[in-house]
Amino acid sequence: MNEKIVIANWKMHGTRVSNHKLINDLLPALQGMDGVKVAICPPMPYLAQLADLLGDTTIALGAQNISERAQGAFTGEVSGQMLADLGCGYALVGHSERRSLYGETDAQVAMKFEAALRAGLIPVLCLGETIYQRRAGNTNAVIGSQLKAVLEQVGIEQLAKGVIAYEPVWAIGTGETASPEQAQAVHQHIRHSLAAKNPRLAARMPLLYGGSVKAENAAQLFAQKDIDGGLIGGASLDADAFGTICQAARI
Ligand code: PGA
Repeated sequence: MNEKIVIANWKMHGTRVSNHKLINDLLPALQGMDGVKVAICPPMPYLAQLADLLGDTTIALGAQNISERAQGAFTGEVSGQMLADLGCGYALVGHSERRSLYGETDAQVAMKFEAALRAGLIPVLCLGETIYQRRAGNTNAVIGSQLKAVLEQVGIEQLAKGVIAYEPVWAIGTGETASPEQAQAVHQHIRHSLAAKNPRLAARMPLLYGGSVKAENAAQLFAQKDIDGGLIGGASLDADAFGTICQAARI
């Protein structure tokens, strides 16, 4: 079984004061988390604050987005090198909100994945289908084509340096979680697709589930064979809930 990873995605929430309180409340709940890697992705302007707050803890820092460019005249963008310089270890790429609200394409997501690796970051590649795609029976095809774009860009060896997060769009922020069986079925499909390229790397690839993971359902999801942890949005803003979710990953 792979080591579990739990990543908090704070999205566009927080202030300096509330961040400080949340981390102070969280740290006691995250004691003794052997065998679980925890990372927090705050909004960009707070990365430096979080780097300070997490300084001598085992909790890693991550960014919610990354530019596909290395440097230059790209107003408003943040490069992988800058994120690494601020102490980030992870960068989310292709979150469904970036894809749907900001028009990120599969090709751009693939370039972001590569940019993260170039900067020494671990890219967390988010994949997921909409409810219409699921109802039409296209879930595996959609996930397959999102994955293919990155595989074609970097190859299986480089892909395996990252993390994959399966996040059904219909489950994100809706309170409607995929059932453990639904999530496991997609995770298994992803692992099989990767195994066709390289079975050894596919077995070790961390596959996280995201989409309305809560304190109440985390343990059941994490108990599935091909679920190696979670990407947590709403519940990561609540210290008790996030603490419970991380503890559930220890089992
Ligand atoms: P949620 O978000 O846990 O609030 O559904 C997950 C995500 O968007 O990463």
